[in-house]
Amino acid sequence: MSRFHGRLTTVAFDESLQGTALEPTSHEEMQREKKCYIESYGCQMNFNDSEIVAAILQERGYGLTTDAAKADLVLINTCAIREKAELTVRKRLQEFKSLKKHKPEMLVGVLGCMAERLRHRLLEEEKLVDLVVGPDAYRSLPALIAEAESGQKAVNVLLSREETYADISPVRLNSNGVTAFVSIMRGCNNMCTFCVVPFTRGRERSRPPESIIRECRELFDQGYREVTLLGQNVDSYYWIDPQSQQATTFAQLLEQVARISPWLRVRFSTSHPKDITDEVLLTMARYPNICKYIHLPVQSGSTRILQLMNRTYTREGYLKKVQRIREILPDCGLSTDIIAGFCTETEADHQETLSLMDICSYDMAYMFMYSERPGTLAARRYTDDVPPEVKKRRLQEIVEKERIHALKNMQKEVGKVRTVLIEGPSKRSEQDLCGRTDQNKMVVFPKKHYRKGQYVNVRITGCTAATLLGEVVEACVPDMA
Ligand code: 5AD
Ligand code: SF4
Repeated sequence: MSRFHGRLTTVAFDESLQGTALEPTSHEEMQREKKCYIESYGCQMNFNDSEIVAAILQERGYGLTTDAAKADLVLINTCAIREKAELTVRKRLQEFKSLKKHKPEMLVGVLGCMAERLRHRLLEEEKLVDLVVGPDAYRSLPALIAEAESGQKAVNVLLSREETYADISPVRLNSNGVTAFVSIMRGCNNMCTFCVVPFTRGRERSRPPESIIRECRELFDQGYREVTLLGQNVDSYYWIDPQSQQATTFAQLLEQVARISPWLRVRFSTSHPKDITDEVLLTMARYPNICKYIHLPVQSGSTRILQLMNRTYTREGYLKKVQRIREILPDCGLSTDIIAGFCTETEADHQETLSLMDICSYDMAYMFMYSERPGTLAARRYTDDVPPEVKKRRLQEIVEKERIHALKNMQKEVGKVRTVLIEGPSKRSEQDLCGRTDQNKMVVFPKKHYRKGQYVNVRITGCTAATLLGEVVEACVPDMA
């Protein structure tokens, strides 16, 4: 699973989903002629938000198009995590502005994480957009569209303490029909000093477990075979039932989802090193269908930098968690996020990051140069004092190290037989299929008579740094003993 998408992705109706739409009344039919185009940036949660937006719009009779030029409404779901993400969005908005010159009635809207901070500039100074809607205000989209249609500038960037869109069944966009993402919580209460998320997405709140189970069960009934439970910090998921006062922790939620069916794989992202518990690891160990893969962002290998980042764990604390994962789940895949060149980072701090990588031997890492974000604690308290060329060189060294470990871990797979959930044809060849192992490694193998959504045992015969190559040994049923 790619957790962070820096690049542009357009979304389209899955034809099979169009078939499940309610019979429209004639009034709705007229409205259905309106088409919306949505483009999404940022993390998987943001992509999942676009699916919620699509559901809200579909309810109001909008169809979706993959061609912005044919759209009545163009929405761009934005990310604010690094400056680069924002710059890309601004460039796209300029392009939409020129599209609008030929089609003045077309509405352009900004959704998501950039909405709050840039609303004045986007609406007033640059006149790039007609509506601006923050991540907790998507229910008001239909009303805001009506306002914008009447020529007013429409804005709602209010953050909520309750909104989880629990009752909305997302319209699955760009779906392979096998794997889906399910948001279990929104917002974040950790105050990492580099991070804009608490400001853009607000306070942390968990979604009622019944609604999560319902969504996962519906997905399973529709033929999906893998769900990824999403949250900024899934381990702090916590729900108290208002009637019974009974609490549900993340480990309990995970167990409930895993019990839907042994044929449903369960993944989750993201874990915080300070919060991941033995209870979660032991639950993972008990259920063969909970995938043995953990994304555990470290950010830095230096305790001094971790303190400045307000990560609330030390290098040693992080390494202890990794050791615990290895004890309880010896075959667990492990990935991370790393930031190069945070404020005051010295060469010695950087070396500590590299040496921590040697100890953890990650299967994969998302690696970034530090990018100061306005309004964050780091922007207010510290100076962004590592020169860009130093950040770049350190990032390069981190990337090189990651490649070495990733390749070594891939090579270790050669000769093993792994259970793979088939996701569809491989990108390179129609003659091959692809799917992931439990540990989240992509495998490509000859198609033969196998099909999407099936579990197969694959003997791994070779690899690159990113992909395993193999041959199916047999179709299989998951071992649920
Ligand atoms: N600069 C660089 N990387 C950042 N991340 C978050 N904020 C910043 C920033 N200001 C990275 C972290 C986080 C991931 C989603 O993005 O590594 O885990
Ligand atoms: Fe996701 Fe954070 Fe980017 Fe918002 S700012 S889209 S929460 S990565």
